Amino acid sequence: MAEIIDGRAVARQLDEETRAGVAALVERTGAPPGLAVVLVGNDPASEVYVAHKIKACARVGITSHEHRLPATTGQEALLTLIARLNADPTIHGILVQVPLPEHIDAGAVLGAIDPGKDVDGFHPVNVGRLSTGTGGLVPCTPLGVMKLLDTVIDDLTGMNAVVIGKSNIVGKPIAMLLLEREATVTVTHIETRGLPDLARHADIIIAAAGAPRLVKGYWVKPGAVIVDVGITRVPSPDGGKDKLVGDVAFDEVQHARAVTPVPGGVGPMTIACLLSNTVKAATFTGS
Ligand code: GUN
Repeated sequence: MAEIIDGRAVARQLDEETRAGVAALVERTGAPPGLAVVLVGNDPASEVYVAHKIKACARVGITSHEHRLPATTGQEALLTLIARLNADPTIHGILVQVPLPEHIDAGAVLGAIDPGKDVDGFHPVNVGRLSTGTGGLVPCTPLGVMKLLDTVIDDLTGMNAVVIGKSNIVGKPIAMLLLEREATVTVTHIETRGLPDLARHADIIIAAAGAPRLVKGYWVKPGAVIVDVGITRVPSPDGGKDKLVGDVAFDEVQHARAVTPVPGGVGPMTIACLLSNTVKAATFTGS
């Protein structure tokens, strides 16, 4: 039987460390860290994510500042808000929820955030730092994936890792983090030829393609460790509540050494890492 990696428990543990970090900052500076969360428009999934992030801030003592803007907001107005948040010493982290409405150039907006406050790690400066192994703020989901791997594997040196998915938010940064730890990394995606065969040689599979139940049992070598980043909402067959389904056919991979569930695996880690990054950003600036 595969060990089920409990993301909720690991996230709770990380939240404890974050609370301690917040307390240390309050002791040193007299004020808790501040996180600005910017949501443009009414994308229903983004609304849910942002609500979770705001609630999580309260749990660990971070002050959240919510900025909800209508879908018609122009790029200039958004850039003006970012400039104001960059200059505000009570704001240590800035998060602009993506996707942004189509008329807004997301690259220009994310690139306008002060890299030291870029708690999502999406700014090109932080992307560059990650690629060169020179510090900076690391995207939350990839960071969470590594922390989950750390609960089951001591040393990644020389291990074969297959990453399925090449997004800027998940696949690419995870590949960089795995390389940094001396794993041998193959980055694949939904168009990769012979994907099942490549996966079958992996000691570690990171499934981040956004394709429900893509990774079948026969893709997985006995003893492999699997982290499932996929989370797709599918209608329940019996007409009940929608189900959340990962990229891994969970019931087929019991011969793995360990696997993360969906929900309750990577999801809780993403938010815990956002909070942890906010404390890190506040600690950098020392204010
Ligand atoms: N949309 C989906 N995931 C994320 C994330 O991690 N950060 C932001 N800002 N937007 C997202």
